[in-house]
Amino acid sequence: MEAIVAVFSDWGIGSEGTQQLVLKADRAHFRELTAGAAVIVGRRTLADFPGGRPLKGRNNIVVTRQNLAIEGAEVAHSTGEALALAEKYPRTLVIGGASVYRQFLPYVDTVHLTQIDRAPASDSFFEDLDASPDWQAAEVGDWQEENGVRYRFATYRRV
Ligand SMILES: NC(=O)c1ccc[n+]([C@@H]2O[C@H](COP(=O)([O-])OP(=O)(O)OC[C@H]3O[C@@H](n4cnc5c(N)ncnc54)[C@H](OP(=O)(O)O)[C@@H]3O)[C@@H](O)[C@H]2O)c1
Repeated sequence: MEAIVAVFSDWGIGSEGTQQLVLKADRAHFRELTAGAAVIVGRRTLADFPGGRPLKGRNNIVVTRQNLAIEGAEVAHSTGEALALAEKYPRTLVIGGASVYRQFLPYVDTVHLTQIDRAPASDSFFEDLDASPDWQAAEVGDWQEENGVRYRFATYRRV
């Protein structure tokens, strides 16, 4: 299983339920990598999507402990239930938020990072993969710039 996340330089990923800084290039990269795949997403992150709706063109698996029916998505009430639902898809990416990344990271072997060279105050964080012996940067792209903000794409793999 894979994960995809945009991280600030302190591994922050969001604040007050949203992303403080969104890059068009990151959005395009996300769309490209998740197209046609299954995505596992937390109920709070889903609420931050446009209209609070699941993503089109992907098989959305939403995790919630509530008894919800969500049009355009399969609902899972536990990590195990989400993993079982994901089994029928050839490719699944974990797309957040923080609590979902934390719980599903043990099942992930590839993380697609957008590294943003800024550190606005965050209240949600991704695990610092550089500090973990379990992960290594496999591919690291060149720094690019959008509206004065430096960013690069990197792929980390479980050692
Ligand atoms: N930078 C990025 O790439 C990126 C990507 C995605 C999200 N984010 C950021 O991450 C933040 C949101 O993260 P978050 O941790 O607050 O919320 P979250 O992980 O998106 O959603 C949390 C909710 O998911 C449900 N849930 C979590 N684990 C579950 C489990 N094992 N079984 C059943 N349901 C489970 C619960 O829903 P119920 O409360 O309904 O039970 C829980 O309240 C936001 O700031 C967002 O912008 C950043």
